[in-house]
Amino acid sequence: MFKVNENYLKLPGSYLFSTIARKVAAYKEAHPDKEIIRLGIGDVTQPLAPAIIDALHKAVDEMALAESFRGYAPDLGYDFLRNTIAWEDYEARGCQIAADEIFVSDGAKSDSGNIQEIFSEDCRIAVCDPVYPVYVDTNVMAGRTGTYDPASETWSRVIYMPCTAENDFVPAFPSENPDLIYLCVPNNPTGTTLTRSQLQGWVDYANRIGAVIIYDAAYEAYITEDDVPHSIYECQGARTCAIEIRSFSKNAGFTGVRLGFTVVPKDLKAGEVSLNSLWARRHGTKFNGAPYIIQRAGEACYSPEGKVQLKAQVDYYMENARIIKEGLAACGYEVFGGVNAPYIWLKTPEGMDSWDFFDYLLSEANVVGTPGSGFGPSGRGYFRLTAFGSHENTKKAMERIRNL
Ligand code: MLT
Repeated sequence: MFKVNENYLKLPGSYLFSTIARKVAAYKEAHPDKEIIRLGIGDVTQPLAPAIIDALHKAVDEMALAESFRGYAPDLGYDFLRNTIAWEDYEARGCQIAADEIFVSDGAKSDSGNIQEIFSEDCRIAVCDPVYPVYVDTNVMAGRTGTYDPASETWSRVIYMPCTAENDFVPAFPSENPDLIYLCVPNNPTGTTLTRSQLQGWVDYANRIGAVIIYDAAYEAYITEDDVPHSIYECQGARTCAIEIRSFSKNAGFTGVRLGFTVVPKDLKAGEVSLNSLWARRHGTKFNGAPYIIQRAGEACYSPEGKVQLKAQVDYYMENARIIKEGLAACGYEVFGGVNAPYIWLKTPEGMDSWDFFDYLLSEANVVGTPGSGFGPSGRGYFRLTAFGSHENTKKAMERIRNL
C-alpha cells in the first residue's frame, strides 16, 4: 500500500488565502445583495501597462511565424531578460550581480517555496513572526519543523522572531543559531521595513554564524524612503550569505501573468559546493523556463516607457495606502506600514481577536481584510489591509469603517 508524505498532514487544512476566499464566498452566498470590497489578498487591480501589452502583442505575433517561433525557453531564462535584470536591478545600483547569477522563474511564490529544497533536511529555519505563510508551510512539507504546539501555533524546530509594535517590527537575532533566515523587506504582512544599517547587521550576523538569508524583495518597488535598501546586495558581504527573490507581480501587475527571478551569487558556498550550481541543477531539472512571451513582457518593464508607466501604477497604489493609513488613524486605530509597502497593518480595536475582527468587518462593513493571526502567533490582535484596490473602493471602504 502506498504511503503519503505525512508532513503534508501536519499542515493546516488550507492555505490562509483559500480559507479567506471560502469564508467570503459563503458570506456572499448568504447575502447576495451586499457589495463586498476586497482588501484581503495582495492582488493587483490595475490593468497591465501599455508598454507591457505592446511587448506581449509583439511576442505573440512572433510565435505565429515559423522563423520567429520559440519552443522551450532556456530553463534559466532568456539572456535578453537576465542581462536586462543584471544591469537595471543590480549593476546600475552599484550591486555586483552577473546575468548568470539570475534565474528567471514563474514567480516569487514558487521560488520562495522551492528554494528550501537545496538545503539539508536538518537545517533550522528562522522566520519573522508574523510571516508570509509560504516560507513555513514549504518547510513543513519538507519535514523541517518538528512538532506543532496548537496553543502557541508554533513548530518546535522553527525559530520565530517576533516583529511587533513593541520592537518596531525589527526582529532581534535569535538566541539559537539558525541555518536559514527568511527576511521579507519591505515586509509582508506588516508593511514595515529594515533600514540599510539594520539589514547590514543581518548580513554580518549571517556571515558570522554561517547562515543563508533568503531575502524576499517582492515589494521593493514600493520603497519611498532613501534609507531602505532595494536589494540585499547593497550590503557589504551579502554575496557570501544571501539569496534574493524578486517578483514582477506587485511592481508590474503580473499576478496573473507569472514571472519572477532568484539571484544566487556564485560566492555563496557550503564548503566547496556552490549554491548557484545546485539551484541551476534544480531549476534545469524541474522547470522548463518561463514562456518567451512573458519574458518579453518582463523585459518591457525596464524600457523607458515601461518604467514611467509602472511608477505611475505604484504611485496609484501608494495613494491608496495613504488613504487607508490616514483614514484608520483618524478613526483612532494604531496603524503601521503603508509608507514603503502596499500593506497597512493595524491593531484590532480593544484587543479583539484577529478572526473576530475579520468577521466583524466583513459583516458590518462588507470589507475583506486578512487576520494578522493567519501570519503567525505574533500577528494575533493585528489585521492587514492592502492598497491594491481601486481608489474608489479604497475610499468607500474607509468610509464604511469610519461609520462603524
Ligand atoms: C499576500 O496577500 O500576502 C500576497 O498576495 C500573497 C502572494 O504574493 O502570494
